[in-house]
Amino acid sequence: MSHAIVELNNLSKSFMDGEQQHQVLNQVNFVLNKADSVALTGASGCGKSTLLNLIAGFEPLSSGQIILRGEDTQQWQDKQWSRFRHQQLGVVFQQFNLLTPIDVKHNIVFPLSLNGHKWNDWCDHLVTTLGLGDLLSRHVQSLSGGQQQRVAIARALAHQPALLLADEPTGNLDQQASMEVMQLMTALTTEQQTSVLMVTHSEECAAFMQRRCHVKLGTVHE
Ligand SMILES: Nc1ncnc2c1ncn2[C@@H]1O[C@H](COP(=O)(O)OP(=O)(O)O)[C@@H](O)[C@H]1O
Ligand SMILES: [Mg+2]
Repeated sequence: MSHAIVELNNLSKSFMDGEQQHQVLNQVNFVLNKADSVALTGASGCGKSTLLNLIAGFEPLSSGQIILRGEDTQQWQDKQWSRFRHQQLGVVFQQFNLLTPIDVKHNIVFPLSLNGHKWNDWCDHLVTTLGLGDLLSRHVQSLSGGQQQRVAIARALAHQPALLLADEPTGNLDQQASMEVMQLMTALTTEQQTSVLMVTHSEECAAFMQRRCHVKLGTVHE
């Protein structure tokens, strides 16, 4: 069996812009193996978020193939996509996207509850590593950007996903908080052999990943 977590074959995506078809991704070929980590760079508007959205099943593709953990997703219905997202996928966005009416602890346990699981030793480990121990009962709006992004990482990794998609996760953080978040995220994903695909504009953040890929004119270059 292949160790690919994500395999994209001739993946294309276009959006309708009024009457006009706007091709964003054109015949992308890309493989992300288990425990692999990739920094994805490219000019604003080149299709980086679109690529992540396709892999997460948030958007339908126009043509080509997305194979996730050896399964061709072409035949997947909503049920298979939600199972993949609930069990295998963690996502971190630039905007922390936390559940604001609830406290830190309940934000972290939420992805576990989707799988019918409860708080466990791994959650304790996440909280300790990310320095969230004293913040568990706090409401997320009262936290700093760096703290909120550490909660978002705990939430994304709580169910021990095979794949972490991160879309400019340090985009709203200052230099010091960015480096802290990158170090912690990398330590945790390395420990769990999580595959990581991270969009970033920062050279320093990209340096935490094993590979560099660049999106240009609709395709991905290593
Ligand atoms: N849902 C959508 N409908 C129409 N156009 C979209 C949609 N999502 C993205 N686009 C267009 O696709 C292009 C790539 O966007 P995006 O993937 O967000 O770029 P990046 O993340 O690299 O900045 C942009 O021109 C954007 O306007
Ligand atoms: Mg984007």
